[in-house]
Amino acid sequence: MTLRDALAYGADRLRHNPDLRAEAARDARLLLLHALQISRAALIADPDRALTPGQKAAYDALLQRRLANEPIQYITGEQEFYGLALHVTPAVLIPRPETEHLVEAVLAEMKQTKLNGPQPKRGALRILDVGTGSGAIAIALAHHLPHARITAVDLSTTAIEVAASNAARHGLSDRIQFVASDLLGAPAADELGFDAPGSPASGLGSLGWDAIVCNPPYVPTADRDSLHPQVRDHEPAAALFAGPDGLDIYRRLVPQALAALLPGGLLALEIGHGQREAIAAMLADWNELRFVEDLRQIPRIALARRP
Ligand SMILES: C[S@@+](CC[C@H](N)C(=O)[O-])C[C@H]1O[C@@H](n2cnc3c(N)ncnc32)[C@H](O)[C@@H]1O
Repeated sequence: MTLRDALAYGADRLRHNPDLRAEAARDARLLLLHALQISRAALIADPDRALTPGQKAAYDALLQRRLANEPIQYITGEQEFYGLALHVTPAVLIPRPETEHLVEAVLAEMKQTKLNGPQPKRGALRILDVGTGSGAIAIALAHHLPHARITAVDLSTTAIEVAASNAARHGLSDRIQFVASDLLGAPAADELGFDAPGSPASGLGSLGWDAIVCNPPYVPTADRDSLHPQVRDHEPAAALFAGPDGLDIYRRLVPQALAALLPGGLLALEIGHGQREAIAAMLADWNELRFVEDLRQIPRIALARRP
């Protein structure tokens, strides 16, 4: 079988799963490249090259995983976010394009308020990324805000390991610090290392962040069955679900952020479909509350400044 034949054969196999029909040709190509560890350019340059039996077997094994709805990103171990290549495993949510709006909005706010720059009086801009997963948000912010120092927390220590490896991959380990924590709750500041704000004994929740950014789990538990099997059966439940109405994390995080942000500090949250009103109520006493819509005109990001 040649590479060209393998593409057609793979796409054909994937079309047996109705959920995969639309992207069958693209997925077959990605899986073939991954199985053979070759580039797209190599595929285009030599489409008549024959697969060895070992390569064919490796390709078949990947097709089988994809047919069982395993996300392509977990199979290849890669996802691009905000132009940066990230390693992903089943321990972390696959970063979504919607979340790029969150990064975009935070970068714009940081520029607008002239916070992005050396602050002679108190050092670098300090940002907390809550529920960092693959590290997507923390890494994109650190990459684009060269004077920021970021602390990224997650309840999952396995996620933290993935995020830390992604930070290292992009040469950002010296400006992003990873901490296992239940929201802003767990660690004491003396465990935090380089520049956690606040007094030594008060931990992440002490006053001092310029911005707190969070894409939390926000799917109502009752919506579990309506999720695509690719999401429901493969992505970590702790990254998806947040109580009966999906708002559990916001309810805990908003008061913690109020206590921990500097006056005028930014809270930036990704929110789920239909959650705008509930979030607006939680942030009613905050300043400059506004929502950013995604490409489908769904309010997706909430931004507010601490009073
Ligand atoms: C929706 S995912 C977002 C991951 C990543 N920030 C992104 O945007 O791709 C939510 C993350 O929050 C973490 N998480 C859930 N509950 C948490 C909690 N109570 N404290 C800290 N992290 C939590 C999950 O482990 C998961 O990695």
